[in-house]
Amino acid sequence: MADGPSGSGKGSLALRIARHFGFHLLDSGAIYRLAALKSLRQGVDLADEKAVAKVLNDFSIRFVEGDELSIPYLDDEDVSSQIRLETTGDAASQIAQYPSVRKLLLERQQQCFQPPGLVADGRDMGTVVFPNARIKFFLYASPEIRAQRRHKQLISMGISASIAQLESEISERDERDRNRSESPLVASTDALVVDSSLLDLNQVTELMISHIEKVNQNRPL
Ligand code: DC
Repeated sequence: MADGPSGSGKGSLALRIARHFGFHLLDSGAIYRLAALKSLRQGVDLADEKAVAKVLNDFSIRFVEGDELSIPYLDDEDVSSQIRLETTGDAASQIAQYPSVRKLLLERQQQCFQPPGLVADGRDMGTVVFPNARIKFFLYASPEIRAQRRHKQLISMGISASIAQLESEISERDERDRNRSESPLVASTDALVVDSSLLDLNQVTELMISHIEKVNQNRPL
C-alpha cells in the first residue's frame, strides 16, 4: 500500500511496483476524482454533504485496462483527461472530507483486493481501507518539488498551468487532506516513510522493491 500527498510520485511508483510483481493496481484518488466529476456535472453544491452523497448513491464507474494506464469511465464515458484537471482534484479533496462519501466509496476500493495481490495508492490505504496490508509505504515530497512534477505532467497532457499557482493549490489541498477528521492524510505507524524529494523515480522504485523483497524473505507468505 502506498499513501502520500499528490505529486509525491506515488501514482507512478504504484504502477511500477504493480507491474514488477504482476499485481493489480488501485488508484483510489481516481475513484474520488470520478465521484467529484459526477457531483460537478450534476451541479450539486459541494458544501452540501447530503446532496453529494445522494448523487453518489447512483454512481456508475469502471476502469478498463489500457496500454499504459487503466482508463476511467463515468457513466460509460471515458473521462481520463477530465478527472486529471485541477478543478476536479480540488472538488475531490472537498468531497473526500465527508464521512458519508468515504463510506460509500470504501467497499468499491476493498473489492479491488484480488489474487495474486494489489498495490493500492491513496491517502488512507494503510490506515483505513487495508489496515492489515502486508507492506505499507508513506511517500513524502516537498510542495515545491510536487508542483514542478504536476506541472510537467499537465504540460505533457496538453494542459497549461502556472507552477506558483499549482504549489499554492497543492499546499491548500494538503492542509485540508491532513486536517480532516475522517481518514486524514497520515502515515500508518507501521509504514516505511520515504522522502522522494531528492530521488528520481528509478531510485525510489529500487528502494521500494528491495524493501518488499527483504520483507518477503524474512516473512514468507
Ligand atoms: O491522489 P489524487 O490527487 O488523485 O486524489 C484526489 C483527492 O482525493 C485528494 O485531494 C484527496 C482525495 N483522496 C482521499 O481522500 N483518499 C484517498 N485514498 C485518495 C484520494
